[in-house]
Amino acid sequence: MAIEWNASLSVGIEEIDNQHKELFRQINELIHACHQGRGVEAVGEVLSFLDSYIRLHFRTEENLMLKYDFPEFQAHRLQHQEFMANLAEVRRRFSEEGPGVHIVVITNRILAGWLNTHIRRSDKIFGAHVESLKKAQ
Ligand SMILES: [Fe+2]
Ligand SMILES: [Fe+2]
Repeated sequence: MAIEWNASLSVGIEEIDNQHKELFRQINELIHACHQGRGVEAVGEVLSFLDSYIRLHFRTEENLMLKYDFPEFQAHRLQHQEFMANLAEVRRRFSEEGPGVHIVVITNRILAGWLNTHIRRSDKIFGAHVESLKKAQ
């Protein structure tokens, strides 16, 4: 059930790949914490940690995109904002209903699923852009 990072998700930029690995680790930790029936405080801590880490990750990617003049920067940034809205939805449900199976379900559906698709469809395009610049040098 846990979603793991694997080599097919590599975008070819080590810093980004490492952050993606950490994000999957944190999402799995969140799911694990809910399954274990850990309390509101413990699960809330994992959610806050995920929230600040994802902000760091998006900032890292967006700064690299500006640095490498990525033509799809604006559209990509909108996708990041969409993820932040999804995460806010998970946090809202959590504050209303507390930790439990419903958090596991929506975390899998709207966080893990989104991240997987976004890396495959969008982050990889940026990775290819950086790669093509390096080859052109
Ligand atoms: Fe990413
Ligand atoms: Fe991204």
